[in-house]
Amino acid sequence: MMKTNSYTHDIDFFGNLNPQELVEKYGSPLYVYSEKIFRERCKEMQQLIQGKPFTSNYSIKANSNLTLLKIAREEGMYADAMSPGEILILEKAGFSSEQIFFVPNNVSEDEMRFAIERDILISCDSLDQVETLGRINHGGRLAVRINPGVGAGHHEKVVTAGKKTKFGIGMDKTDELQKLLDKYDLHLEGINQHIGSLFMEPGPYLEAARHFLNLASRFKELKLIDFGGGFGIPYHKLEGQERLDLKKLSVDLSNLVGEFAAEYGREVLFKAEPGRYVAAECGVLLGQVHALKENGGAEYVGTDLGFNTLARPVMYDSWHDIEIWHDGKPSTAESVPQTVVGNICESGDILAKDRVLPRAYAGDIIAVLDAGAYGYSMSSNYNNRLRPAEILIASDGTDRLIRRRDTYEDLFRQFDV
Ligand code: LLP
Repeated sequence: MMKTNSYTHDIDFFGNLNPQELVEKYGSPLYVYSEKIFRERCKEMQQLIQGKPFTSNYSIKANSNLTLLKIAREEGMYADAMSPGEILILEKAGFSSEQIFFVPNNVSEDEMRFAIERDILISCDSLDQVETLGRINHGGRLAVRINPGVGAGHHEKVVTAGKKTKFGIGMDKTDELQKLLDKYDLHLEGINQHIGSLFMEPGPYLEAARHFLNLASRFKELKLIDFGGGFGIPYHKLEGQERLDLKKLSVDLSNLVGEFAAEYGREVLFKAEPGRYVAAECGVLLGQVHALKENGGAEYVGTDLGFNTLARPVMYDSWHDIEIWHDGKPSTAESVPQTVVGNICESGDILAKDRVLPRAYAGDIIAVLDAGAYGYSMSSNYNNRLRPAEILIASDGTDRLIRRRDTYEDLFRQFDV
């Protein structure tokens, strides 16, 4: 295949149709997922720890499309759930109770019962939540989420460990924890942590894992140790950004785990909880250019990609690589700085500011890369806009709808009209 300036073209991302044809067939905006890439990422994550019992729990908050969940299950992934809604969709995808780990935050007794009735292991995120669980399930089993004191992430909003965070039980609280376990005769079967989202170097994850295993050796009944997610992907791939060195991480982590297991004296199942790594790169968001304007010296490209479809750039100033497709082909127009905006009634509705891109024309297709994680799952109906459709490009290049676009009836469904 001829090399172009388009990443998606060069890896044949869209299969048998081009983005223009896909938008004509399914409408715009449109989330497009590559089955091949999704399966590859599942496979990579399944091999993170070698030589000891290990499973990767797909963190479905990144993308809980039912078809993708079924594929993850086929690939042997287990899953973590943050809410009863996530538990229910996992059950629909065929995951068993044993394959689901409930890792919630500040939940009610009812939500805990929801998991207990299904015999799904719950991780408690505070001493208060341990107390609640003990009260409603005396003699039961649980896991606890520990704050290892080391955090990492691409934005302060996604750092979930360290000094300033709502997450986890501090390492200094283990004596109080033990008192609660004794009080309610609870069996501490698992400990988990999650330091934050999107690290590109193995260092912080390994450091947190080392601390975590030190702590783990204090508890004698553990069946499960979960190191959490956060594995980054190269959002700047068009500039040649390096990937996270997963091989190195895997070797070092497997060594750490091996040393721990040799000492611990009973068999433990190790886990990781990747969300973004599994889902981000399999997804491209397509939208259409509707209007162009110059304002105060800036060139604006007006599209249907409002922050209701992809919240990340507005919420975290996140970068997503963008490609312009013209007449069904990667655009070869001259590159100039342009600000790509959506159709939401807010001045912050900016997908990319002063980005150097081939000059866009009305009718062009915008392809936003690495949109598979925290894309659709964080989309909304803000401004009464319809959430996009999602399609899958199967490994043989054929496309199929895997979630229909919202309809206007969907917007009215909850009202008595
Ligand atoms: N486990 C727990 C307990 C988590 O809180 C998270 C993410 C994960 C696993 C998966 O993390 P991942 O491997 O995807 O980094 N919306 C933000 C990311 C928020 C992540 C929240 N927790 C974003 O779009 O960057």
